[in-house]
Amino acid sequence: MQSNKKVFDMNPFSFGNIVRGDEFYDRTRETELLVSTLTGGNNVVLFAPRRFGKTSLVFKVMEQLESQGVVCVYIDLMATYSLESLVESYVNAVKEKQGRIETFAKNLSKWVKSIRPKVDFGPDGMPSFSVDFENGKADAATVAEVFDLPQHLAQKGKRVVVVIDEFQEITRFHKYGLEGVMRSIIQRQKNVNYIFLGSKTHLMMQMFDSKKRPFYNSGIQVQIGPLPQEDTIRFLQQRFASDGMVIGEEQCKYLIECVGDIPYYIQLLASVLWQRVVTNKHTITNDDIDLCVDDIIGLKGDYYQEQFDKYSERQKSLLKAIAVDGCNIFSSRYIQLHRLAPASTVQKSVAVLTEDGVIEKEGGNHFISDPFLRRYIIAKYGL
Ligand SMILES: Nc1ncnc2c1ncn2[C@@H]1O[C@H](COP(=O)(O)OP(=O)(O)O)[C@@H](O)[C@H]1O
Ligand SMILES: [Mg+2]
Repeated sequence: MQSNKKVFDMNPFSFGNIVRGDEFYDRTRETELLVSTLTGGNNVVLFAPRRFGKTSLVFKVMEQLESQGVVCVYIDLMATYSLESLVESYVNAVKEKQGRIETFAKNLSKWVKSIRPKVDFGPDGMPSFSVDFENGKADAATVAEVFDLPQHLAQKGKRVVVVIDEFQEITRFHKYGLEGVMRSIIQRQKNVNYIFLGSKTHLMMQMFDSKKRPFYNSGIQVQIGPLPQEDTIRFLQQRFASDGMVIGEEQCKYLIECVGDIPYYIQLLASVLWQRVVTNKHTITNDDIDLCVDDIIGLKGDYYQEQFDKYSERQKSLLKAIAVDGCNIFSSRYIQLHRLAPASTVQKSVAVLTEDGVIEKEGGNHFISDPFLRRYIIAKYGL
């Protein structure tokens, strides 16, 4: 048997995880902009709706920064619901950048007075690390000390970049005033810069654009949109071709259109399409793409209906209207055309749907976050 022969084909499309290496395409300009802004000593605010590729882009940026000797710390606030879990996330992220666990634990007890680092050794002799809190709980003072951990990494001329993903979730800790606490601490830090990433663009804008908020004007704002179409076409064609399948430019454009040009859904649909065609390789047609879209909607139909049914009649009417067209949704022409409630009511519905993540806004237009939900609504209600 030849050792270099593929035994079975692996699906070359990946979605839902951070994409790296040759799975990641384009964003060259954005990568350069972020790297130079950070090395120039400025903070960056990067926002875009979910699934546009923020986290993947930032991992690419961190790779480049690390190759220049910058220490990069990555923290995701999505899963932090308590002060304790916030502290743990921060501490673990910093630990990644330190050498021996035992040395880190010793340092940490000096740096953060109210937590007790613990190092246990498993049966295999491998150390494992955890933290205990005095009185079993963390408070805002502990968190403040933890926010200053990156400064300890920036010793001896080292530069540090801290990435805080899903940064808008810091608002969960509103009652502890953490926004203000963090802002005043990071302002004093030297040789430490930040990237604040966020998916909930309305919350991010409120945090960085409102004069009343601690983070007002505290970073260079960068927004990312869809990936350029010609790059997506090249990527799709190359990936199908390497497994002996042909997809024309028109079919690529059709696929992109079906998913509203959202990077995650491009990969998802391409992956389903690859699976369908790999067993019977032929030149891909729009019918193949339609069948895949139907499959995906078929699988998720009950869930979509449930999601849709939980809204009021007014909210449903707005969802139907946005499914068809999301431009200028507060204009009187739009409201009349789609027979919606007055603009103030539309605004309330938009707030609810945005908060739930069902709709998002990009480049001034509203859209339904999941393009397959959009198509489900259009098909179901004959729009
Ligand atoms: N530059 C890119 N190249 C290829 N695929 C991408 C790119 N950016 C995003 N994707 C696709 O989108 C998915 C979601 O990316 P992610 O970085 O998690 O987005 P976000 O952080 O904005 O939610 C990835 O798993 C991948 O399928
Ligand atoms: Mg992300």
